[in-house]
Amino acid sequence: MCGIVGAVAQRPVVEILLEGLRRLEYRGYDSAGVAVVRAEGDLVRSRAVGKVAALMERLDGEPIDGKLGIAHTRWATHGVPAERNAHPHFSGEWVGLVHNGIIENHVELRKRLQDDGYRFDSDTDTEVIAHLIDIFRRQGVSMLDAVMAARCELHGAYAMAVISPDEPDTLIVARQGSPLVLGLGIGENFIGSDIQALLPVTSRFIYLENGDVARITRKKIDIFDVNGERVVRPVRESNASMCSAELGDYRHFMLKEIFEQPQSVTGTLENRLAGDHVLPALLGVSDALERLAQVEEIQILACGTSYHAGLVGRYWIEANTDIPCNVEVASEYRYRRQPPRKNMLFVTISQSGETADTLAALEKIKENHGALATLTICNVAESSLTRESDMALMTMAGPEIGVASTKAFTTQLVALQLLMVLLMQAKGADKAKVAQMVADLRKLPALIEQVLDLNPKIETLAERFIEKNHALFLGRGELYPIAMEGALKLKEISYIHAEAYPAGELKHGPLALVDSEMPIVTVAPNTALLEKLKSNLEEVRSRGGELYVFADREAHIVAADNLHVLEMPHVPEMLAPIVYTIPLQLLSYHVAVLKGTDVDKPRNLAKSVTVE
Ligand code: AGP
Repeated sequence: MCGIVGAVAQRPVVEILLEGLRRLEYRGYDSAGVAVVRAEGDLVRSRAVGKVAALMERLDGEPIDGKLGIAHTRWATHGVPAERNAHPHFSGEWVGLVHNGIIENHVELRKRLQDDGYRFDSDTDTEVIAHLIDIFRRQGVSMLDAVMAARCELHGAYAMAVISPDEPDTLIVARQGSPLVLGLGIGENFIGSDIQALLPVTSRFIYLENGDVARITRKKIDIFDVNGERVVRPVRESNASMCSAELGDYRHFMLKEIFEQPQSVTGTLENRLAGDHVLPALLGVSDALERLAQVEEIQILACGTSYHAGLVGRYWIEANTDIPCNVEVASEYRYRRQPPRKNMLFVTISQSGETADTLAALEKIKENHGALATLTICNVAESSLTRESDMALMTMAGPEIGVASTKAFTTQLVALQLLMVLLMQAKGADKAKVAQMVADLRKLPALIEQVLDLNPKIETLAERFIEKNHALFLGRGELYPIAMEGALKLKEISYIHAEAYPAGELKHGPLALVDSEMPIVTVAPNTALLEKLKSNLEEVRSRGGELYVFADREAHIVAADNLHVLEMPHVPEMLAPIVYTIPLQLLSYHVAVLKGTDVDKPRNLAKSVTVE
């Protein structure tokens, strides 16, 4: 999704801005641009469709620079990817602006501004903000006051940064709904839509709250809250490393992140297991067990891959506690009426912690339902979800750059196991059962290593998919959401249409699709439903379907014509969803590489979906 970088410094800032944009490329975008106030005192910009490299090429030919600047990568929402729609947007020669989010009342505002004589150069919702600010600055107020006045007229979500030759040493930013962070330098300051953009220049950050507006100069930062009151927001030191955003020896971030899973899982378990139980302190509050003991119901909310993790979580929680658990995609939940609930624990799951729908669902819960408690399972410590939830269970996956979520997903599953065991402890479950689960969890990194060794075989298997247009993924029980995740991975990076079904549903419709052109991928660990699954596989084979089965070595599924079996290590039943995710990730990755798609930045997608 769109990325913002800005800087006010004593040195020329374009290089810093471009490096920031490059580091935000993982978020997904279709055009890029930069604007500066030059030493001559004028506002100039350069924009290009396509990659940041295209913008850099343009700047090589027609350089611009200055000590105050803003830059942007755009992911189109209003208006096609085109230079005229790329940010920064200008109002005449006096206001330059970059914006993430969506202005919902842009049609009315555009009409009003056109009636006032403003000419629009783009099809975006963003341009109205630049002209609105211009109206106020023409009245002779400061840029800060102009931005504050303009934002009162905006409905929707935004993070924005504004510069003007009126105030050539000042950067004004505002945040409502979309994330924005300030980076503190020495005699220079920066802003970004996430800290990745700014790690080369600082490790000290201030996270703006919703409704905040800030005036930033080289030496001073003034922040005002939604009521215009001056506020002080804490400065946080980040230990995120720049290297984690580097490819190293890998061809793609996705492959790097798949292979990082033994470490990210180890990190998520580290300091959280003590002997035969899970440490309640991992929820970040001192009375975690007391709170969990009161839970009578759980509602999980998430989007995409994180939603699939939630679905697995439901199987686990309901199998091992008496707590009913419901899971829903946040974009649906946020617009649905629900009866008030008693003693409900609301759990959001998110890699980024900034997904607009998940955040809105959390807001709705907090406003309307008086939850017993809100808990987020999240990978970004300073994200909005983490800050706005009562409790946070952090996944320790490290930065995930590939748009296709891999290590974030498996660490979310680990976190859900930890939560489930904590719920069992809080509800007084059998200690031996808890101890067995904890012992099993410790085996996980080594099991994942074993599955990663299958990479060359999976790469060979992938060749059989490149000519296909469709694929079916089957699973049963808690492996059904893993089939869903496998199908999502394949479609998002290889663009092959893929659907997942609970294997028992085949004969209720999808069996009609089965022929020799339809690859059917199945995960078959040695669980209670294995024999049922085998019968489903026979239904497919007898209709000429081509089966690819990742099967427990003790499952006794023997390779035959149109039945390709890849043997998996034997795993404890509770760990199967995590371990069986790995071959599906590798399969999608290799199919995408063979098809030549942009694996880390698939078309039309963004890493962090910060707009609705
Ligand atoms: C999956 O590969 C995608 N990146 C996407 O479905 C993602 O999981 C979803 O947008 C939710 O993101 P979050 O975990 O950051 O909230």
